[in-house]
Formats: sequence, C-alpha cells, structure tokens
Amino acid sequence: MANIYEPIEKVLISEEQIKARICEIAKEIDRDYEGKEPMMLSVLTGSFMFASDLMRSVSVPTSISFVFASSYGNSTVSCGNVEIQAGKGFEPAGKDIIIVEDIMDSGRTLSCVRKYLLDQGAKSVEICTFLDKPSRRVVDIDAKYKCFEVPDEFVVGYGLDFNYQYRQYPFVGVLKSEYYE
Ligand code: IMP
Ligand code: MG
Repeated sequence: MANIYEPIEKVLISEEQIKARICEIAKEIDRDYEGKEPMMLSVLTGSFMFASDLMRSVSVPTSISFVFASSYGNSTVSCGNVEIQAGKGFEPAGKDIIIVEDIMDSGRTLSCVRKYLLDQGAKSVEICTFLDKPSRRVVDIDAKYKCFEVPDEFVVGYGLDFNYQYRQYPFVGVLKSEYYE
C-alpha cells in the first residue's frame, strides 16, 4: 500500500497533542457556558474535523450549524472581502454562538463571520480556532479559545488542505516543497 504521508516534510502537531489540547479547550468551554446551550458554528470546509472532535468533548448541551466562508484576498465584495453562505433555516438570532474555525490567518474571514452573526442578532459570539498564525494578522481580532499557535508556514492536515488535498491526515504538518509547486 502506498504511504499516504509521503508528501509530509515534517509533523508540527501530533495526533496525541491534538487530542489532549481539545480536552483542555472543551473544559474551558464547559466552564464558560455552564447553564447555557451554545451553538457551534463550523466554518467549512477546513474546520469539519475539529468541530466534530470538539463537539464530542464538551459536556454542555451544544448544537451545531455550518457556514461556507470564502475569502477573496484584498478584493471588495459583500462583507469587505468574504462571502458567507449559510444553510437553509440557519437562525443565529438570540443564540450564544461559538465560531469554530480551522486557522486564523489574516483574520478577515472570522471578522466578517462575526460581524454577520452580530448583525443577525446573535446574543454572543466567541471564536474557537484550532490554529492561530498571529504573525499574519491584518485585522484586529483575537480568539477566546485557540488550540495551537503555528509559525508563518503553510500547514495541512486535520481538516486543512492544500488544493483540496491532505485534509485526512490526523496530524498537522508541512508539505515537502515539491508538493506546493
Ligand atoms: P483568513 O484568516 O481570512 O486570512 O483566512 C483563513 C483561511 O485561509 C482559513 O480558514 C483557511 O481555510 C485558509 N488558510 C490560511 N492559512 C492556511 C494554512 O496554512 N493551511 C491551510 N489553509 C490555510
Ligand atoms: Mg477556513
């Protein structure tokens, strides 16, 4: 059988580290949302794996919804530069929402998603990001919950892709340079 991990140059965060850290974050969420029923909002596609593991680790009653958000770099459309597509029947009004994201990079996506939710009447909005690349931030935004900080390198795995590939890896890693070309 072919080695599906062959494209990986190095593993930055192991499967064991991910599991342990999600348990810690889930405890923080349980403590902060005691007596509430937060709704997780998973930003597709990258956060699907994280959202699934996180949801199974929290103990407070939690629902989940999904939005697609696509960033258009510096061009200007709708909310600044991000297009948000919610599923039918998505109703953020009055809810305590935890946005679940794969990685915070420039911060544009999350800043637009958060503004959208508040405009729609969400009661509270917090951010839970799996990865944070603070060195790349162009928008002033911070996450209440974050699992790991990563250096300014393009990373894949645990839901994160390069060109729609490598999401299935259970760890976070950096690709060999020939795979980015
Ligand atoms: P931003 O914070 O609006 O710049 O965009 C963040 C989005 O860009 C994330 O949700 C990812 O989908 C994608 N992204 C940014 N950095 C990486 C990376 O290192 N690997 C994979 N996707 C990334
Ligand atoms: Mg994303």
